[in-house]
Amino acid sequence: MFFTKYPSAANFVFAQAHGSIGSGKSIELDMGKRPIMLDLASYQGGINRIRLTHHQTWLPNLSLCELNSGMPIESDAIRWEEGSLVIEDEHGNIALQTVTNRGVGANAEASLFQFIATEENRYYGMGEKNFDTLELSGKRTVFWNTDVWSDFHIGQYENHPADPSYFSIPYLAIKLPSGKYVGLLLNNPAPAFMEIPGRDGSRAFLKWQQTSPHLILGSYDGQPELWVLTADTLPELTSKFNRLVGVTPLPPLWSLGYHQSRWGYGGDDDLFHLDAEFTKHGIPCSGLWLDLDYMDGYRIFRYNQSLYPKGIARTADALAQSNRRIVPIIDPGVKSEPGYHVYDDGMEQGVFCKNREGEPFIGMVWPGETVFPDFIQPRVRDWWATYAEGFRNEGFGACWVDMNDPSTGPMNPSDMLFQEGRDAHWLHRNQYALGMQMATHQGFLQAKPKERPFILSRSGSVGSSRYAAIWTGDNVANDFWLRLSILTTMNMGLSGHVFTGADVGGFGNDTNPKLMQRWMQAAFLMPFMRNHSTAGTRQQEPWALGVRTREISKHYIRLRYRLLPYLYNLFAQHEQTGEPIARPLMYHFDDKNAEEISDQVMVGPYLMQAPILEHEAETRAVILPGKKPWFDLTSGEWLTSGRYAVAVGPAETPAYLVTGAILPMQASLPEDENVDLSRPSFLVAVPDGVSLENQTTYVSDDGIGFAYREGARSEMVVRIKATAKRLDITWEQTLSGFGEIVPEFVVTPRTGAIYLNGVRARQTRVSEKFTGRAISLRRLS
Ligand code: NOJ
Repeated sequence: MFFTKYPSAANFVFAQAHGSIGSGKSIELDMGKRPIMLDLASYQGGINRIRLTHHQTWLPNLSLCELNSGMPIESDAIRWEEGSLVIEDEHGNIALQTVTNRGVGANAEASLFQFIATEENRYYGMGEKNFDTLELSGKRTVFWNTDVWSDFHIGQYENHPADPSYFSIPYLAIKLPSGKYVGLLLNNPAPAFMEIPGRDGSRAFLKWQQTSPHLILGSYDGQPELWVLTADTLPELTSKFNRLVGVTPLPPLWSLGYHQSRWGYGGDDDLFHLDAEFTKHGIPCSGLWLDLDYMDGYRIFRYNQSLYPKGIARTADALAQSNRRIVPIIDPGVKSEPGYHVYDDGMEQGVFCKNREGEPFIGMVWPGETVFPDFIQPRVRDWWATYAEGFRNEGFGACWVDMNDPSTGPMNPSDMLFQEGRDAHWLHRNQYALGMQMATHQGFLQAKPKERPFILSRSGSVGSSRYAAIWTGDNVANDFWLRLSILTTMNMGLSGHVFTGADVGGFGNDTNPKLMQRWMQAAFLMPFMRNHSTAGTRQQEPWALGVRTREISKHYIRLRYRLLPYLYNLFAQHEQTGEPIARPLMYHFDDKNAEEISDQVMVGPYLMQAPILEHEAETRAVILPGKKPWFDLTSGEWLTSGRYAVAVGPAETPAYLVTGAILPMQASLPEDENVDLSRPSFLVAVPDGVSLENQTTYVSDDGIGFAYREGARSEMVVRIKATAKRLDITWEQTLSGFGEIVPEFVVTPRTGAIYLNGVRARQTRVSEKFTGRAISLRRLS
C-alpha cells in the first residue's frame, strides 16, 4: 500500500457486453481470464446492491457490519444491459450508468466501478477526509485507517490536508445536474480508493495529475460490493444512508456535555483539582478524561494504584457528587510481558493476531513491544468484553478507545494477520477499530445492562456509528485545523457518523488565548465537545489562558448546556430518522450559493453558526441562504437573506435562527451540569409580517437508560401559526411515559397578539445573552 499511488483503470480488465439482467438476478460475465458472477438486488426506498463473486479471487464479504437493507424487492431500478450497469431513481429516470464495456473491472484482487460523470456533478461525503473543501471534485484518495501523526511528517499535516486519515467510510454523495442525489458505498472492509472527476487546484499543472473524466470507486481486495442509493434531496439521501449503515443509538445525556481531557492527567490529585476548578469557576463539565498516565506502566486494564490510594471506585463516587464521570483511555496493544495478567491470559486463550510465521505479531506502541487482540474473531471480542466489563464495574463511566487504526508504530502492519493467521492484514485493517468498539460496547452492557454505553474511538468504519462516538484524531492548534473541525464534522454527518467532534483548542503545539476563545465558540454546538491536548504543550483548561479566555469559555460552555435539550432532541430524532446533527448549508438550502460553503454549519434545522475561524479576525463573510429572514442571535435583529460582512467582538460569534424556529432550551444559562428535560423553554422566532406554519416534536426521558424504548418517554408536539396579525402557539403532550412536560415560551419581539393554546398571552420583556450582546425577547405567560 502506498498512500500516494492509486490503482489505474489502465491496468484493469473489464466485463464486456454480454446478456442483460435486472434486480434479483445473476449473470456470469467474462472478465479477462475469469468468469465472474454479477448479481443485482434492489431494496425498499431506492436502495440497490451490486455484487461480484469469484471464489478463487475474493473471500465472501468480510464485513463485521450487516447493513440494514431489509428484504430485496422486485424492481427494475438496476440493470446490466449492453455492457453497462444502469441505475434508475424511484421515478424511473436514469441516475447513473457505468462506462460501456469499461464499467466493472478487476486487476487480480483489486476491483473497480467506473461511472460516466458530467461536469456539473457535485461530490460530497467521504467521511473523515481532511481535505479543506466541502465539495470533492478532482480528489484522488485512499481509504486506509492511518495513525496520521505516526505515518506522516508534521510538515505534511500541520497546515495541509493529510490523506488518508484515521477513519474510513468509502461513501460518496453525488448531486446530479437534475438536482437529485445518488449515494455510492463500497461495502467492503478492505482498503478502497476513489478518483473524482474534476480539477483539484493543488495538482493542476500536469495533465496526468488531473483525475479521470470518469468517476472511479474501487477496492484493493475483498468481495466487490457497491451500494447505490437514489434520492430527490440530500436530506432524503442522508437519512437513507445513515439508516442503512446504522444510526447512533441515543447517547447518554451527560456525554453531550463539555469534556476536559489532556495527555498528562493521571491520578486522584489531577481529577480532584480539575473538579474543584470547574466548580469554583462555575463552568459545567461532565467528563474528566484520563490519558495514558493513569495506567500502570502502559498496561491496559490496570491502573496505577499508587495514584488512587483509595481505589478508583472511591474517586468515581466522589466525582459523581459533582455530576462528573471519569473516562479512561484504552489502547488495543497489550504489553508483551509474561506475568502481566492480560498478556498471560490472552496468550493462553490464543487471542492475539499472528504474524506470517504463526507467532503473535509484535508491534511497538507505548509500553514497547505489544501484541494485538484479533477483534475480527467473535471469541476474541467476548474475551475483551470480559475485561471491559470489569473495568466498567471498577467505576469508570465510559471509555476512550485509541490507537485502533491499528497503530503498530514502526512495525510493518502487513505482518499482522487476522483469523488465526489466515487473513491478510489489509482485508480487515479498516474494521479493526469497529471490532474493538463492538467488544468494548458488549463489555459495558454486560456490566450495566440498563445504561447506555458511551465509547469514544479514534478510528472506525462502516457500522462504527452503532457503537462509538468519533473524535477526529490528532489535530494542531492553528487556524487550518480550527476550520477543518467544522468541515470534517459535517462530512462525517453526511457519511453515516453523526456523533463527532475535534479536539477543542488543538491537540498539538501550544494553543493561545485568542485561538482557544474562537475554538470554544466554534465547538459549543458540535455534536461532541472535548478540550484535549498533548503532553508538553501549554495547559489549555478553560481557566489556564487568562481571565478573558476563562470567561468566554465559561459562557459558551454554559450556552451549550442551555441548548442541551435541543442537541439531545436532535440525537433522539437521528435515532428515528438518520438525520445528522451538524449539516452543511446545502443540506437545507438548495441554493447555488450554499453548495461549497464549508465554514458555516446548520445545527439541526433551526440554528446556523458562522464561527470566526481565523483566530485573529473579528470580521468574516457570512451567507444567509434561502429567501426568508434570519434572526441574528448576536444582535437581536432580523436580517434578510444574502451576503454580509459581519464584525464581532472577541466574546461574540455569529449565529442565527431560521424563520419559524422552535428551539428547545433550558430556561436560563446554567451554572452546573444539571439538565431538566421536562421543563423546556422554547424560543420561537417569527419576524413581523410573515405568515407561516411549523411544528416540532420534543421528547424527554431519563437521559441515561433504555427505558425510553419501553415507553418511559414523554413527547410534546409544539405548533406555531403566524399571520400578519397574530401568532398562535399550541402544544399538546402526546406521550407521558416520563411524566409531564411543562413548557415555557419565549419569542422574538413582534407586533400583534400572541396566543398560547388559544389564550391571549402576556408578554414580559426579557434580556438574554446568546452569542453577542444582550438581546431583547418576550417571555410569554
Ligand atoms: C493518540 C491520541 O490520538 C491522543 O489523543 C492521545 O493523547 C495519545 N494517543 C496518547 O494516548
